[in-house]
Formats: sequence, structure tokens, C-alpha cells
Amino acid sequence: MILVTGATGTVGRNVVRQLLEAHAEVRPVSRSPERAPLPGGPVAVRGDLAEPESLRSALGDVDRVFLFPAAAPLDPFLDVARDAGVRHVVLLSSAAADGESNAIARSHRVHERAVAASGLSWTYIRPGAFMANDLMWAPAVRGDGVVRAPYAQAATTPIDERDIAAVAVRALLDEDRHAHHAYQLTGPESLTVPERVEILGKVLGRSLRFEELDPAQARELMVARMPAPVADAVLGMMARAGSNAPVSPSVQQVTGRPPHTYADWVAHNAAAWGSPSMP
Ligand SMILES: NC(=O)c1ccc[n+]([C@@H]2O[C@H](COP(=O)([O-])OP(=O)(O)OC[C@H]3O[C@@H](n4cnc5c(N)ncnc54)[C@H](OP(=O)(O)O)[C@@H]3O)[C@@H](O)[C@H]2O)c1
Repeated sequence: MILVTGATGTVGRNVVRQLLEAHAEVRPVSRSPERAPLPGGPVAVRGDLAEPESLRSALGDVDRVFLFPAAAPLDPFLDVARDAGVRHVVLLSSAAADGESNAIARSHRVHERAVAASGLSWTYIRPGAFMANDLMWAPAVRGDGVVRAPYAQAATTPIDERDIAAVAVRALLDEDRHAHHAYQLTGPESLTVPERVEILGKVLGRSLRFEELDPAQARELMVARMPAPVADAVLGMMARAGSNAPVSPSVQQVTGRPPHTYADWVAHNAAAWGSPSMP
């Protein structure tokens, strides 16, 4: 049995879906189990990583866990999981864990160290920027068609959440092969924001325009949505990013197929952009 925490989230929903497609036994977790991770899929059990005792009975027959990096310290949950007989943990971490020191890097390093210290076998999934982050542009795309963002020159290699989940699922289903590996994950192409806006417009058949925001304006908008140290870490990474970001081969190596392109991802999420579903 595989326990999936973060099962209602961007990555976890896809982990649940792909595990079910592989006919694995899955138990999703949510703090609000009335929010089904998947329409028609298994009902989630109630649990909170900040209150590990809430998960003790759900862990009874579990041997593997997909672990969401919740804000709470994970050590108490890991103790309960080990006592319950869990063998292997696949931790959703971040590429930032292996980079410069900032608030994002520090929180993920703390979680990786807790998992390593737990004595359980582990795999770290370290994605860079999610393509899903760009859904914050959906109101602008559906509205005046002007996407506003800072640092026009900064390239990233955004990754489709389905590919992050696919690597996690391989690590859950074949723990011996993936134990004690940390996978740095990227999408297949280095893209700046104006390049992504151009692809969005082409795939959706919409006339979109990019407008560069002053970093101070961008920070003001970001701190309304996330803690200030996280906004500062993101802006700092963008300020230092070059115009060509490195592509990692890990998705291809682990799954045997290339990661989805940005155009694939836009088409897959057509409804979120206010467009009809695409094949
Ligand atoms: N966005 C990026 O570009 C990026 C890049 C690299 C790494 N990351 C990391 O990826 C994570 C975000 O992943 P995501 O987008 O899949 O998440 P998400 O869509 O924001 O969903 C958050 C999930 O975590 C669960 N959760 C939160 N606190 C919990 C707790 N105390 N106990 C149990 N479950 C809890 C929520 O479940 P319920 O609400 O249902 O309980 C929900 O399923 C962050 O840690 C981030 O640092 C993000």
C-alpha cells in the first residue's frame, strides 16, 4: 500500500492518477478529505503532517510513502511512519535544495536531512520551476491578453507536473532501483517568460503580449500570494538567471520517455486558459 500525502495538490493528484493507472494500491491523504483528489478516484483519508498521530491508523498496512514537503517539521511523521513499518519515502523536494542558499533551499534541505536521518530508504524528487506556476497568468490571458512579469531575460526549464509525478511513481514502484537517488528534474527546453507567452498565444490561438514589470512592483504582487522570504528567493533566482537554463536528462532516464514540452502542457490545460479542450 502506498500513502500519498499532498494528494490534492498539483503534483500529488498526478501521483495518485499514475499509481492507479499502474494498478498500485493507493491511499491519498488530505486535511479536508471531502476534497477528492480525483473525480471518481479513491476517497482520501483525513490526516495532517503537522499532527502525525492523525496518520497512524492510515499507515497500518503502508510500506511506501509519497511525502509532501509541508511547512511543519517532518521528523515526527517519519518516526510514526518507521514505527508503522514504512520502508521507503519519496520526498517532493526542489532543485533549490542543491543551489544557492535562500529561504526555499533551506526549507527543502531541512526536509531532506530529516528523511535521511529517519533510517528509511529514500528518493528525493527535486524539480525546478513548475509549468503550473504560469496558471497565475490565466486571468490575464482570459482578460486583456497582457502577461506581466519581471526579468524578461531570465530563462528557466519549466517542468510539467505530470513528469514530476511520473518520476515519483517510478521511485515508488521500483524502490530498490531508485533508493538513495536525488533526481534534479527539468522540462525539455530553456524558455524565458516572453518565449512562454509566445507559445501560449500560438497554442491557444490568442493574441497575447508580454509586458516587463519592475522587480519592486512584482514583489508587491508576489507577497500578497506567498511569504516575503519566498518571494525574495524567487526574485533573487530570476535576477541571477542567464538567458539559457540547463536541461536535465533525468525525466528521460527514469521514465524512458522525454518530458512534455511547454506547448503540450498549455494544450493539456486548455480549459484553465478559457479555451476548449484540445486533443
Ligand atoms: N512551484 C514550483 O515551481 C516548485 C518547484 C520546486 C518545488 N516546489 C515545491 O513543491 C511544493 C508544492 O507542490 P504542489 O504544487 O503539488 O502543492 P500544492 O498544489 O500547493 O498543494 C499542496 C498540497 O499539500 C497538502 N498539504 C499541505 N500542508 C499539509 C499538511 N500539513 N499535512 C498534509 N498535507 C498537507 C495539501 O493537502 P490538503 O490541503 O488537501 O490537506 C495539498 O495537497 C512546495 O513545497 C514547493 O516548494 C515547487
